[in-house]
Amino acid sequence: MLNLTPQHVKIVEVGPRDGLQNEATLVPVEIKLRLIELLADAGLSTIEATSFVSPKWVPQMADAQVLMKQLKQRNNIHYPVLTPNMNGFETALNAGAKEVAIFAAASESFSQRNINCSIEESLERFVPMIDAAKANNIRVRGYVSCVMGCPYEGDISPEKVAIVAYQLLQMGCYEISLGDTIGTGNPKAARALIHEVSKQVPVVQLAVHFHDTYGQAIANILAVLEMGISVIDSAVAGLGGCPYAKGASGNVATEDVVYMLKGMGIDTGIDLDNLLIATEMISTFLNRKPNSKVAQVLLANKHDTK
Ligand code: HMG
Ligand code: MG
Repeated sequence: MLNLTPQHVKIVEVGPRDGLQNEATLVPVEIKLRLIELLADAGLSTIEATSFVSPKWVPQMADAQVLMKQLKQRNNIHYPVLTPNMNGFETALNAGAKEVAIFAAASESFSQRNINCSIEESLERFVPMIDAAKANNIRVRGYVSCVMGCPYEGDISPEKVAIVAYQLLQMGCYEISLGDTIGTGNPKAARALIHEVSKQVPVVQLAVHFHDTYGQAIANILAVLEMGISVIDSAVAGLGGCPYAKGASGNVATEDVVYMLKGMGIDTGIDLDNLLIATEMISTFLNRKPNSKVAQVLLANKHDTK
């Protein structure tokens, strides 16, 4: 197999949104803003800040408007926010969002549980949103969830994923992020996924969004890096979980991804020492160890030498 591993990888930090959306204790907006600042200080160039979803469905994101209004957006840093419908899109726009993410699923049951409509209905809903985004100079990222398995339907074929990914691309999404929402994938399945989806969406416009429920995420990332994938979603301290995906645990930890890529000589623009400041802040607030072996070791070493 041809090794297409890129020399530079863009990491999309999803900790403040995907990472925190499932936390039982409400995280104050000041802590979320501080986390975003620290992530920007560490060199993250794309930080998914929040989501404009129903507060009845996801109470943790109820402060989205306050957060976006108070966020000091820096030049050259993108702060996409999730918007499931026109209501969320308009509120996000008014709050100052310059980039949004729409999210569809490759599984009908997951689509119903997550956004209360079918895949087809969700795609129809996105059309006017993308039109409005274009009119307002807003970039739109697209997600497909359940790309390697669904909590309700089990296995999902790569062909199903490719159909939804292609439709999102055709609508005008600049990048399609493939979500292994419940983390059931493995390197072979991840390769088969990229093989199929890249027939419809150029590999440079694909991102991977792997949850680490079964500890496979970093192996899956390596498998797809070798196929030319150069955009990786991850969450600081391995935060995360999805309220509508039973058993889904954290996203792959940003620290683990940066450590692996750095070791392989692949540039990310992220300073691991500075990233650990963000790791430590949020882990201290949540009162638990980071869900990242890299962060645990490096933080222990840091405190040992003091
Ligand atoms: P619905 O109940 O069908 O919506 O929910 P509705 O249009 O019938 O409206 C019901 C109520 O919600 C109304 O308020 C609306 O105003 C309000 P009421 O009259 O009852 O007071 N409403 C809203 N409020 C705030 N923001 C909005 C909004 N829209 C309607 N945007 C809806 C449909 C899509 C809103 C709901 O299902 C929802 O919010 N779902 C989001 C669930 C979510 O955030 N899931 C997690 C993110 S996806 C994910 O994690 C996967 C991903 O990480 C990738 C991966 O890992 O695979 C992206
Ligand atoms: Mg996710």
